Amino acid sequence: MDYKGQHILSTKQFDRDGLLELFEEAKEMESGGGGLSGKLMATLFYEPSTRTRFSFESAMLRLGGGIISNADMVATSSHRKKESLEDTGKVVSQMVDVIVVRHPEEGSVAELVGKSDVPVINAGDGAGEHPTQGLLDLYTVWKEKGDLDGLTWGMVGDLKNGRVPHSQADLLKYFDVKFVYVSPPGLEMPEKYRAGNYSESNDLREVIGEMDVIAMTRVQSERFKNEEEYKKYAGSYVLDAGMMKGAKKDAMVLHPLPRVDEIAVEVDSDPRAKYFEQVKNGVFVRMALLAKVLKG
Ligand code: NCD
Repeated sequence: MDYKGQHILSTKQFDRDGLLELFEEAKEMESGGGGLSGKLMATLFYEPSTRTRFSFESAMLRLGGGIISNADMVATSSHRKKESLEDTGKVVSQMVDVIVVRHPEEGSVAELVGKSDVPVINAGDGAGEHPTQGLLDLYTVWKEKGDLDGLTWGMVGDLKNGRVPHSQADLLKYFDVKFVYVSPPGLEMPEKYRAGNYSESNDLREVIGEMDVIAMTRVQSERFKNEEEYKKYAGSYVLDAGMMKGAKKDAMVLHPLPRVDEIAVEVDSDPRAKYFEQVKNGVFVRMALLAKVLKG
């Protein structure tokens, strides 16, 4: 696939070869990158972030490019003067070479793209998609296992509202993967993200032994009507050392972070815990993506 000059809005834009090519490039980025000197990236965040914004910025700086950043567009940008997303996109695109956006509403990043003269990358749009998190999740597993075909990939938690499981599911459709969806009743994986070979359960303990990948997610508190609704689901699953005894010896535990209580801290020292490694891998994957989008 051709990355150059493309907006990266959805997992649906990729294909199998394009993904593998990106992962090879990310692996090369692990030993250092460059080539974007003189290029500028803007990060526009309308929703909180710790990792994703820093990760994009770290990636751009490591490539020799520069950044301008607004971590709180809601409070401090012309959003407060009711400027449309489309106008904001058009304006910012006059000043930079690539724009990275996170927004709480599904589809809003596509709106900002409307008149942008430079590529826009979706860094999470509400409960919709988070393509680059999906990319780094797959990269982390691909790098360690050498392959994605043939794996059983478990997704655990708020599969309804989590944009991360949505993006993982959509990207994994390019591979021969068996899915195990584990969620509390009411937070099941939406129909549109289900495909191929999958099974479903409410009970993590019962199915954890089948999984090569245990992809945990937090209950997405900000997507519920009120605290009471959220509390019905909070604490549904807690992956602890006891439960890890039932997991495969070579399983990999993923989590996009932040965690609340769905992985006990004691699991951090289990060699199967990969969530901090994912953070590091995210920088390499974003370096590869920025390089491909800006240089081809
Ligand atoms: C995720 C997100 O923002 O969707 N975090 C991240 O980007 N690493 C996951 C989450 O917030 O639960």
